[in-house]
Amino acid sequence: MTDHAPWWQAATAYQIYPRSFCDSDGDGIGDIPGIISKLDHLADLGIGFVWLSPVYASPMADNGYDISDYRDIAPEFGTLADMDRLIAEAKARGIGIVMDLVVNHSSDEHEWFRQARESRDNPYRDYYVWRDPAPGGGAPNDLQSNFGGPAWSYDERTGQYYLHLFDRKQPDLNWQNPELRRAIYDMMNWWLDRGVAGFRMDVIDLIGKDPDAGIIADGPDLHPFLREMHDATLKGRDVVTVGEAWSATTEGALKYSGREAGELSMVFQFAHIVQGWDEKHGKWKPKPFDLVGLKRVLTEWQVALAQDGWNSLFWSNHDLPRAVSKYGDDGRFRVVSAKMLATVLHMMKGTPYIYQGEEIGMTNIRFTDISQFRDIETLNFHRIQTAAGVTPGDFLAGANSNGRDNARTPMQWDASDQAGFTTGEPWIEVNPNHATINVAADRADPDGIIAHYRELAGLRRALPVMRHGDYTPYLEDHPKLMAYARRLDDAQISVLANFTGETVSADVPEGLAVSGRAISANYPGRDALKGTVELRPYEAVAILAE
Ligand code: GLC
Repeated sequence: MTDHAPWWQAATAYQIYPRSFCDSDGDGIGDIPGIISKLDHLADLGIGFVWLSPVYASPMADNGYDISDYRDIAPEFGTLADMDRLIAEAKARGIGIVMDLVVNHSSDEHEWFRQARESRDNPYRDYYVWRDPAPGGGAPNDLQSNFGGPAWSYDERTGQYYLHLFDRKQPDLNWQNPELRRAIYDMMNWWLDRGVAGFRMDVIDLIGKDPDAGIIADGPDLHPFLREMHDATLKGRDVVTVGEAWSATTEGALKYSGREAGELSMVFQFAHIVQGWDEKHGKWKPKPFDLVGLKRVLTEWQVALAQDGWNSLFWSNHDLPRAVSKYGDDGRFRVVSAKMLATVLHMMKGTPYIYQGEEIGMTNIRFTDISQFRDIETLNFHRIQTAAGVTPGDFLAGANSNGRDNARTPMQWDASDQAGFTTGEPWIEVNPNHATINVAADRADPDGIIAHYRELAGLRRALPVMRHGDYTPYLEDHPKLMAYARRLDDAQISVLANFTGETVSADVPEGLAVSGRAISANYPGRDALKGTVELRPYEAVAILAE
């Protein structure tokens, strides 16, 4: 198994949110030439593939997750020629470019939708999901959009409603239509032939929906469609595919990514994220951090996918808050806690995804006024929740804790005015802490966070036990420590981490005890886990038994 394992199991992934990564032309918006200028940073980190958030032509209602032409690039990001150059330059550094495939919906400005709304008998009408008004008038049913409000919008001209599970500018594509499916597969092959290394598939668990029955995620046609897609596009190509699936269960994950499934390489699921959300108010209401709950979910997935299937490992992405602010300490212990989180994540089984800026411990931003936010979801929910009586202050607290703009403030390259992100006016404010938190400063420190991530990527390539070893949790009910061991043949790695800013003393359980070599650590001087240990604030250590 280890010998024939696919390349993406040994790779470390890095997500780029192009709008906020690096701006080469001073318009305040990151772009593809900007990304190319930073490829050496990624190569130095040891990245195997980049998940590139959408760069396609788009009116940018949802920053590119609303595509108006799947075969072109948004002018603010560059041109197709820039894209070809990015693919080639990345490849020359051993890095694959994985495109974001957003095919649950398109933009309402896509030619297909423009045609579809012309008339009920337009040949593209059936590329989207149209329904008559309810018998008494109004929306066909009470399905709600993920961005708040009804999931149906009325089209005056043709007298029907269209479905949009996100914004009204993101009409859902009708996957029941074989012609639409064929058009998507052709487009995927067009990109694969251009040399992309695979796809990250946006909300892919929604494509098999049955909106009339109120079934949205994990619908009856999901897996048949994914198998068909695989056979029409991915089969026989050595690419990586990762499906965003908020609804995935551990059993479901095997349907997508099991050896016999013939669908995807792995799913990107959120059980460990969602366990930290308020049951009633979701992410908008901050909830105290619960390490025991977090560990329970991580363990459940590690164990369930031990023999088959494959995990995506991540703390953060462009929809989530900054890892160090959420799970670590973004003040006094920022650097050690960022390293602790990196060690804990990378030592688990799966492919780790680093979200841009995580490698320097970028933090949440603290906006003081709603006018500073840019994210469509945050702005929609602000309108809805304040109208429903949530105070502006409470909403702001929620948005600052869990809102998507936290991840979208510009990448902090250096201490200069706009953090080296742009010479112009950035589309969203740069975090003022860029004066101290930036790539240049971190690189200048041999003990920096970048160096820690680089080491972890190297270890994953070098150590089969880290990629393929089994996973045993320890101290599962301990509210402050996380502990687990990985084992493969005679090799063992033991991981112990303190998730608090206090010194914590603990008796090392028998199976976890080892002596050997610290292969990843954020404090010096520990080469064994034995007897009673005192873990310093946010200390993490991974010891390889020798
Ligand atoms: C996914 C994306 C998110 C986007 C949504 C609609 O969840 O990650 O950014 O808004 O899908 O495309």
